[in-house]
Amino acid sequence: MASQTAGRLCFSNVTALAPMVRVGTLPMRLLALDYGADVVYCEELIDLKMVQCRRLVNDVLQTVDFVAPDERVMFRTCERERDRVVFQMGTADPDRALSVAQLLQDDVAAIDVNMGCPKEYSTKGGMGAALLSDPDTIVAILNKLVKGVSKPVTCKIRILPSLDDTVSLVRRIEQTGVAAIAVHGRLKEERPRHPLHCDYIQAVARAVDIPVIANGGSLDLVKCFPDIQEFRAATGASSVMLARAAMWNPSVFRQQGLLPVEEVMEGYLKYAIRYENNPFNTKYCLCQMLRDKVESPMGKQVQTAQTNAEICAAFGMQEDFEKVQVLLRSRREALQSSSPPSLPVTEGGVTSMAVKFERRQYPAQITPKMLLLEWSRREKLLQPLYQTVERPQARSFQSTVSVAEQRFRSSLWEKSKKSAEQAAAVVCLRVLGLPEGRLGEEDAGPPRKRKLLDGAEERREEREDTVANGNRDEPDTPQ
Ligand code: FNR
Repeated sequence: MASQTAGRLCFSNVTALAPMVRVGTLPMRLLALDYGADVVYCEELIDLKMVQCRRLVNDVLQTVDFVAPDERVMFRTCERERDRVVFQMGTADPDRALSVAQLLQDDVAAIDVNMGCPKEYSTKGGMGAALLSDPDTIVAILNKLVKGVSKPVTCKIRILPSLDDTVSLVRRIEQTGVAAIAVHGRLKEERPRHPLHCDYIQAVARAVDIPVIANGGSLDLVKCFPDIQEFRAATGASSVMLARAAMWNPSVFRQQGLLPVEEVMEGYLKYAIRYENNPFNTKYCLCQMLRDKVESPMGKQVQTAQTNAEICAAFGMQEDFEKVQVLLRSRREALQSSSPPSLPVTEGGVTSMAVKFERRQYPAQITPKMLLLEWSRREKLLQPLYQTVERPQARSFQSTVSVAEQRFRSSLWEKSKKSAEQAAAVVCLRVLGLPEGRLGEEDAGPPRKRKLLDGAEERREEREDTVANGNRDEPDTPQ
C-alpha cells in the first residue's frame, strides 16, 4: 500500500505501474491496483491538449472525465484511484504545465512530468527526452509545479551518456523539491530490448535523498512479484516501476503469484465495459496480454471486433456486457428524470439555455434546423439567420439564431459550426414551444410559450433583410 504522510503521497516502498501510451487507461489501472500495485500512472498526456479540457463529473459512469473540445475523453478517473493515480504530462512550458496541474490536482495523487519519451512527436516540441539536454527548462517546470501545486510533483527521466552528468542532473532535479524521481536506465537512443544500465540507477539512488523509482526491467529482470523486490535491491532504488511486464500480465503485482492470463483478461474486460473504455484501447490491451496467442481464433476475433460488445462476444461474456448496459441505462434514465430542464435566460436581447446538440437523439432525416426553417416558412417569417463565433484556441463554436426578431443561442459551446447551429435551433424551438423532432419527444417538455412570438407577424411586414454578417438558413441535410 502506498503510505500517506501528512496528506502527501510517500513514494518509498511503492511498486508502480508505469505510464503507457494508450495503455494506462482506467480499466488497466484499476486492475493493477486490484493485484497489488501501490501507485498507477496514466499514459502521458500532452499539456497543450489537456489545457483545453473541461472537467466533467460523469454521473452515469461515476467517474471524473477531462474532455477535449472535440468531446474526446482525454483522461478518465474515479474515486477508487484518487489517492493512487499519478497524472503524467508531456510539457516544455512551465506556465502551461501549471495550468494543467491545477486543473487536475484535486482528482489525482501526484503530478509527473515525462522527460524520457524519445518519440519525435514529443521531442520535436521540446518535450520528453528533449528536456534532458535542457536542464534549465526542467528546473523551471518543476519549480513552478512544486510551488503551485498542492500534490506531490515527480518526474521520469532516462539516463545521460555520462554517469557524472546523470548524477548532476538528478541532483539539480532534487533541488526543485520533487517528491520522487523515476529513472529508466537506458539512454534516449536505446530501445527497450537493449540491456538496462542498473549501475546508473544505483548511482542515482546513492546520490540523492528523495525516493528513486527504478524502471526498465520488464524484459529481462521482472517476471513475477519476487523479481520486483530483487530488481529494487539490485538498483538500490526505493521502488520499482513496471510498464511492459504489467501490460503483458497485470497480476505481476500479485504477491501470491501470477494468475493465468485468461483470468486476468476477463477481469480487465469487466472494467473496460463498466467504464466504457475506448474499444480500440481495449483491443490493444487484450492483444498485449494474448501475446503469442494473438493469432489464435479467439485472438483474431478480438482483432476484428469494433465494439466492446463484439470483444465481449469473443470471450463469451455477452451476459456481462448486457448486465452493465442495463445498469448504465437505468442510471441514465434516473438522472434524466431527476434533473430539472435548463431554464431560458434573456440577456442583452438573446435568450439562451444550456443545450447540447446530440445527433443521435434525432431521426436520420430530421434536424432542429429543418423544423425551424419549415416553421418560419409556414409562419411567413424571414428564414432563420445563424451567426456563429469560434473560440480558436479550443476550436469550439457558438451560434445565435435570429427568428421573428428574437435571438436564441445555447450557452454551451459545440465542437463544430453545424452542431452549434443545431443547438441554437433547439433553444429557439424549445423556447417557442415548438416540436424539435427529438425521438420520444411526445413524452417530454412543457407546452409552447407562444407569447414570445406576440407581434411577430406584424413585425415581419416591416422587417428588412439588413443583416450583413451571417447566413440565412437553407434547407440543411441531416448531419
Ligand atoms: C511506454 N513508456 C512510457 N513512459 C512514459 O513515461 N510515459 C508513457 O506514456 C509511456 N508510454 C509507453 C507505452 C508503451 C506501449 C510502452 C511499451 C512503454 C515507457 C515505459 O514507461 C518504460 O519506461 C519502458 O517500457 C521500460 O520499462 P519496462 O517496460 O521495462 O518496465
